[in-house]
Amino acid sequence: MRRALVTGATGFIGHHLVQRLLAEDTAVKCLVRSQSRFARLSEQGVTLVRGDLTDANSLAEAVKDVDVVYHLGGLTKSVRRGDLLKVNGGGARNISRACSQRSCPPTLVLVSSLAAAGPSYGAEPRIETDHVNPVSHYGHSKRAGELAVMECAVDVPTTIVRPSIVVGELDRDGFQWFRMIRKLGIHLTPGFTNHYYSMIHADDLASALMLAAQTGERLTGSVEDGAGIYFATCEEFITYADLGRVIGSSVGCAKTRVVHAPLWMIWGLAVGCDVWARVRKNPTILSVDKAREAAAGAWACSAAKLQRHTGFEPAMTLENRLRQTADWYLQEKWL
Ligand SMILES: NC(=O)c1ccc[n+]([C@@H]2O[C@H](COP(=O)([O-])OP(=O)(O)OC[C@H]3O[C@@H](n4cnc5c(N)ncnc54)[C@H](OP(=O)(O)O)[C@@H]3O)[C@@H](O)[C@H]2O)c1
Repeated sequence: MRRALVTGATGFIGHHLVQRLLAEDTAVKCLVRSQSRFARLSEQGVTLVRGDLTDANSLAEAVKDVDVVYHLGGLTKSVRRGDLLKVNGGGARNISRACSQRSCPPTLVLVSSLAAAGPSYGAEPRIETDHVNPVSHYGHSKRAGELAVMECAVDVPTTIVRPSIVVGELDRDGFQWFRMIRKLGIHLTPGFTNHYYSMIHADDLASALMLAAQTGERLTGSVEDGAGIYFATCEEFITYADLGRVIGSSVGCAKTRVVHAPLWMIWGLAVGCDVWARVRKNPTILSVDKAREAAAGAWACSAAKLQRHTGFEPAMTLENRLRQTADWYLQEKWL
């Protein structure tokens, strides 16, 4: 039986990965913090290990006796830039160092992000050998995580997976699109250009991560050659406006109005949200950092390399995945 550690298991993507690993008969250990909500995990027969990614000393026990470490733990948004770097950059360094201290280090799969690579330009989706150009603090922090695991890659067999936007059941961020459309029939779209975006469902991402662990290429130590790095995404691209239309029809909104908001308005709203977030000490979905990404244009990438190397195929089309997600939100009464 294979044994795996999952960091970030209490989060949205972590939940999907843990289900898939358990279904494939893997013994799963999860790193949880004392303040984490882990009641659901406890009921699923996983082993819980207390620790914090920012506390290097707390990780040795977590990485002990496992074959694979799936490192998902991180911050997707924060009021403070320093926290993003500390958790996404420093946390990845701490976990890869903990792996390197084992006499026989486990395989490490780092969940990075398309944001670490940056937006795509022109009609071409990003591929792994493209020059990186993160535009947000979040993207820089995820890139810092990539560079940190590269430092230990001589000792630790490591693969980096960069997912595009992830959708699926239990996602609270993407849920806001569904909610706004269902309640108001409106889909707010940044700017007037119909840029293309890549997306992936969390179950398909879980498959991609497991395949990357089994047969994926490992980092070679060179920062620029793209070896050991994969984008994980559906091969279809979607514009923000079409995303709104698909969600609209999935949540039973007969006519979704796609409202193109000028970028200056998005920046203005983002500044307001940042002030609110600082007052409440709680990050909001829209922020100046997310506005940087929204203003950067297209975010499309290709999973062709992952498909070639591991045989990865999403189980369904993106449209069907969005419908499945909407059905779950309706069934669970989130909507
Ligand atoms: N969602 C997306 O669209 C997307 C796209 C590309 C990449 N990613 C990456 O995928 C990963 C998972 O994202 P997600 O959407 O599932 O995020 P999420 O729902 O916010 O979950 C984040 C997880 O990280 C854990 N965590 C945060 N800080 C930690 C710390 N200091 N020590 C230990 N654990 C900590 C959280 O634990 P607590 O329960 O204790 O807070 C939680 O389990 C992240 O690395 C993210 O950058 C996400």
